[in-house]
Amino acid sequence: MGHINELKKLPPQRDKVETVSILRQLSKTSQTLGELKGVAKTIPNQAMLINAVVLQEAKDSSEIENIITTQDELYKALATKRKQPVEIKEVINYRKAIFTGAELIEHQGFLRTKDIESIQKTIIENNAGIRAMSGTVLKNDRTGEIVYTPPQEKDEILDLLSNFLEHFNVNQTDLSPLINLAILHYQFESIHPFYDGNGRTGRILNILYLIIHDLLDIPILYLSSYINENKAEYYKYLNQVNRLDHWEDYILYMLKAIEETASNTIQKINKIKQQLDQTVEIVKRKAPKTYRKELVELLFEQPYSKIEFVVEKLKVERKAASRYLKTLEDIGVLKSEKIGRENLYLNIELIEILKH
Ligand SMILES: Nc1ncnc2c1ncn2[C@@H]1O[C@H](COP(=O)(O)OP(=O)(O)OP(=O)(O)O)[C@@H](O)[C@H]1O
Ligand SMILES: [Mg+2]
Repeated sequence: MGHINELKKLPPQRDKVETVSILRQLSKTSQTLGELKGVAKTIPNQAMLINAVVLQEAKDSSEIENIITTQDELYKALATKRKQPVEIKEVINYRKAIFTGAELIEHQGFLRTKDIESIQKTIIENNAGIRAMSGTVLKNDRTGEIVYTPPQEKDEILDLLSNFLEHFNVNQTDLSPLINLAILHYQFESIHPFYDGNGRTGRILNILYLIIHDLLDIPILYLSSYINENKAEYYKYLNQVNRLDHWEDYILYMLKAIEETASNTIQKINKIKQQLDQTVEIVKRKAPKTYRKELVELLFEQPYSKIEFVVEKLKVERKAASRYLKTLEDIGVLKSEKIGRENLYLNIELIEILKH
């Protein structure tokens, strides 16, 4: 069995992945993504932006079932050193995996098989690594029907992965990098190299690809929310490629996902920027002696702030740090909340923006 949909190496047949509708959608997607790249540059402090977007993605991609974990809980978890329930830990691990991947790209500019393994390992927190035992099949969640059988032999998986990486690291065709991104995502998910975490690892690879190929400078575009909201189509179109070598619907889906997400992210960045400017304005006016550029930026890097963060960032004594935060609370910029023995200071307005 499994011969019907045996996975082929890259690249696919060109006329299947570059149709007229795909090219039409491509130009819209490229333009919006270009805009996002530009808008991101206008934010003075890039860490601020990355933190804001990455945590939301970690939450969306981890899709914690049954348990309602809010952004607030996640920020609290990041700001305190308390032991966390497993669902929260999973989100925090995913966030860490994004940063691990982004650092790899920044330092070496490409990925190797072992880098993908380390990303997956950070997410899943076990040492199983690449599949060595056969038996993994993809089933329809509802009916239990087997929809696709990925390669079973470890050698074959490794061979397909190295073919994948050749195309991931360097564009081997003259296809648009965005079409390639869609193709690569399909290919990775179909190789399905791990027992678990293939979806999450693949979604991190997407953002790393955008950075490697200069479509973005920083990791701020994530498709998980779009995919969650349009999951049935996502699976259906992946299946159409497996079964029929029909690429068009799937590629259009991915291009639309990128366009819509880029456009939402642009709006979010503009709101954050506005809020930052407004906060600077208020602090300068109401507490001029406390105003420091780095202090206000910190409130946007860490929407849940605390004395230690201020000490570290501004290199000041605890007493001064504590005074700054209290002053910011007095003028209504922050709101304090006691968690255990710790006092956290919340940037309420920012948290409100990040929620939507
Ligand atoms: N027919 C298919 N062909 C190729 N890939 C598929 C198919 N059906 C599902 N997939 C991929 O398998 C992923 C799920 O694999 P796995 O459970 O290992 O990942 P996960 O990260 O734990 O889960 P999830 O992606 O649901 O968060 C899906 O996200 C999807 O990308
Ligand atoms: Mg899974």
